[in-house]
Amino acid sequence: MKRIVVLISGRGSNLLALHKRLCEPGKDQNRLASIIAVISNKPEAQGLAWAQTQGIVTRALDHRQYPSREHFDQALASEVDDFGPDLVVLAGFMRVLGAGFVQRFEGRLINIHPSLLPAFPGLNTHQRALEAGVCLHGATVHFVNEALDGGPIIAQAFVPVQRTDNEVSLAERVLSEEHRLLPQVVADFCRGLISLDPLGKLECSPEATRLLFPLTSGAA
Ligand code: GRF
Repeated sequence: MKRIVVLISGRGSNLLALHKRLCEPGKDQNRLASIIAVISNKPEAQGLAWAQTQGIVTRALDHRQYPSREHFDQALASEVDDFGPDLVVLAGFMRVLGAGFVQRFEGRLINIHPSLLPAFPGLNTHQRALEAGVCLHGATVHFVNEALDGGPIIAQAFVPVQRTDNEVSLAERVLSEEHRLLPQVVADFCRGLISLDPLGKLECSPEATRLLFPLTSGAA
């Protein structure tokens, strides 16, 4: 069974979706993975409290308590390493991680981002998509590299933008696609169907492509 550490900063709805898919008893006789720890840079994150109710080990590392980004990254990396994870999932983790952290977990670090990358990296993606007048928006799961919201894209889910959309309505529809896409990618990774090759290129088996394809066309 693969060992997953999930990093969050807030609500944790992607964490819940992952847990539901991978860890709830009875759903899958041969459980693929276990969420062995949830770590947040915000001690008050709702997702941390929820994880505790599930008996998942939690840690809070408040980034404001560290003198620099590097100090925080180092502390976080050693905390994560202590759990010996096969995969680290950034599920609504709102801190940029530096090269040291990224290199340490290369090939086992993935992120969910609420836009169709490479469009709209960074924050406020829904607002920016509306301002740009795009007709398609969505979510991306990718391996993490040193570029902000960069790294090989594993899968994307498209969400049509409606004329009546505002930031809230668009965010809601994108989020429900995130909840479908991320657990599928993580399950495929845990089955060994998705990986990074030694040159840092995505390797995705035909089986993973077959499983992910139906999720790419999100709800209108
Ligand atoms: C998600 O849209 C995630 O992609 C973004 O922040 C949001 C976090 O949601 N980076 P949650 O904490 O998983 O509910």
